[in-house]
Order: sequence, then structure tokens, then C-alpha cells
Amino acid sequence: SLVHGTEIVAGAQKGHYAIGAFNTNNLEWTRAILAAAQEKNAPIIIQTSMGAAKYMGGYELVQHLVQDTIKSMEITVPIIMHLDHGNYDAAKAAIAAGYNSVMFDGHDLDFKENLEKTKELVALAHAKGISVEAEVGSIGGEEDGIIGAGELADVEEAKQLAATGIDFLAAGIGNIHGVYPANWQGLNFDRLKELTDAVSIPLVLHGGSGIPVDQIQKAIGLGVAKVNVNTEQQIAWAKEIRKYIEENKDHETKGFDPRKVLAPGTEAIKNTVEEHIEWFGTPSVK
Ligand code: G3H
Ligand code: ZN
Repeated sequence: SLVHGTEIVAGAQKGHYAIGAFNTNNLEWTRAILAAAQEKNAPIIIQTSMGAAKYMGGYELVQHLVQDTIKSMEITVPIIMHLDHGNYDAAKAAIAAGYNSVMFDGHDLDFKENLEKTKELVALAHAKGISVEAEVGSIGGEEDGIIGAGELADVEEAKQLAATGIDFLAAGIGNIHGVYPANWQGLNFDRLKELTDAVSIPLVLHGGSGIPVDQIQKAIGLGVAKVNVNTEQQIAWAKEIRKYIEENKDHETKGFDPRKVLAPGTEAIKNTVEEHIEWFGTPSVK
């Protein structure tokens, strides 16, 4: 069932594991992510970027889709519905539409404005029990039109953002959206340690696709309690569908029946999500 996120992510921080936050794009992705959570009997965060929500028909539609899919699949594990990298208007719209959690990504604003807008959204969201994630520094690369230079999170700014009452903090620690370049230097654990020493709320690791598992687990050990994964699901999905189409392109119906064509992609997403839940050490719920 849909639940709010604050306590679950705080519990992960205390227990030194993380909750996976997986991006959805449509009905099949939603079903795959929910099925993986149910299979592992573990809580997860299902999230949409602004671009995905627009693509799917808006925040209300997404909220209803997730809620109704949970019902029809008889999903019993806790599911948190989250807005990923929202601007101010998107965060407000997601709060109004009944999301359980929102990220306000103000990395492109000057810091004072980021702080003020974060504060306003915390008041709005907390009045409804909705959690808020803010961002300090930036995540390198690009995700759905959100572009970041990848500058390291400033510890002083992290403290000021944490003081607004936010529930989780996304921090730039050398992480990058999308595929990591061959010459990537790895996560900056020194900065991560400085940040977790300075703020008490859970930190969020963005750009979870392609980070070596030992680095992810080390980050979790240092206080990361939410890990975002998007690209890895897209790659797994595309690979299996491409293979299926190649193999069945001359078949009478298999080659074009959408329910058949999309099925291997859905299965690939489910497997990817399950694997990440294991890597993050999310324990099963009783
Ligand atoms: O906000 C979403 C994530 O940070 C996903 O990053 O596509 O590199 O896994 P990724
Ligand atoms: Zn991100």
C-alpha cells in the first residue's frame, strides 16, 4: 500500500541499509517495479521525473495509476510514491495530486532562493505528512533535461538546507546521472563523511546506475539511505526488447503484438530492481 516516506527512510538510515528509488515511465514499468518489491517483500520508492509525469499524462494520472496498480496486483509491501528532481511548481502539483514524497531540486537557483523555496515546500508538504528531499551541490550529467555540472556538495550549505526541516538530502559527491564515463574517479567518500558528520538526516545517492556495488554499499554504511536508479532499468529493458524483436521479426504475430513485445522488457526491469534491492540490503517486511 502507499505510505509516506519519512519513517521508512529514517529507519533505513538507522539500520544501515537503503531504500531503492526506481523511476517509472508507464504501466509496464510500474508493474515491474511493484512486482519486484512484492517478490523481495521489501519497501521501495517508485518515482517519476517531471518529464515522465508529463509523458504519462500528469501527476494525478500517475498517482492514480500507481495506486490502482497496487490494488489490482494486491501489493502488500509499503510503497512510497515520490517526485524526482521537481522544480517548485512540479513539487506543488505533486503534493496536490497525493504523492507521498517530493524532491525539490533547486541546484540551478542561487543558494538563497533554493533555501527559501525549500522552506516553503517543507511547510506545504509537512502539513500533509509528505516528505521533502532537497539537493545540495549537483549531480553530474543529464536526466530528463535536468543537467548538472557535478559540483561537490558544500558542507555549510548542506547544514543550512537540513535546517529547513527537509527529510532527506541529495548531495553531489562525484555521482553522475546516466552512464559513467570510463575515466570516472569514483564517489568522494571524504566529502560524504564530512556531510554525514555535519547533518543528521538521511542522504540520497543519485545516479545509482553503474556505480560499483562495493562503492554503493560503502556509501550506505556512511549514511546514505535512499539510492536512485533509472538508467540501468532503461538499458536492461531496451536490451531485452531489442533481442526479442530481432528474434521474432518474421513471426506471424509475435513480432508486433505489444503485449508480447513488451513482456521481456518488463521482466528485465523486474530483475534489475530485485538485484538492486539485494545490493541495498533492504530487509523484508514481516
Ligand atoms: O534521479 C534519478 C537518479 O538519480 C537516477 O540516476 O539514471 O544514473 O540511475 P541514473
Ligand atoms: Zn537524480
